[in-house]
Amino acid sequence: MKNYITQHVKHNGAKLRKLFINGLRDMLWAEKNLIKALPKLARAATSDDLKVVFEIHLTETQQHINRLERVFRNIGEPAKTKKCTAMIGLINECSEIIESTEEYSSVRDWGLIFASQKVEHYEIASYGTLRTIANILRYSEVAELLQQTLDEEIQANTKLSDLADAYIYMEAVLD
Ligand SMILES: [Fe+2]
Repeated sequence: MKNYITQHVKHNGAKLRKLFINGLRDMLWAEKNLIKALPKLARAATSDDLKVVFEIHLTETQQHINRLERVFRNIGEPAKTKKCTAMIGLINECSEIIESTEEYSSVRDWGLIFASQKVEHYEIASYGTLRTIANILRYSEVAELLQQTLDEEIQANTKLSDLADAYIYMEAVLD
């Protein structure tokens, strides 16, 4: 496997770099749009705990944008965006949940957790692969920056899972 990667990169380094840059641009677009969506999710959430998770992640998302801009500077490329169609779909799903659930209901929070965990999983998959490609291309500083963001996305996802577990407990107590 290692030989395969080494040989492969030798011949396709420039193409892999292009794929890497496109992936970074895709994420920059995704994060910039998430900045607009997260306050809406926080406003729509019923429980204060869920509101706080969205608010904290909003601050982190601004950091993710700053880090991506540092990544672009580091590799000597302009910090351009590329429309991320996957994120459009995921954000639309969040809006649909808000439209189709009642205000101040626990069902809405379940829906928001459901939809926002999909967003986090998309980001986790993207940053994980981008970090690995950065390592292959020997951008070690960049790989470290992407790892930091990846860790925060994983943390955000864990907080959402923990909240879901807590809600399961509360609903069980209510029954
Ligand atoms: Fe992010």
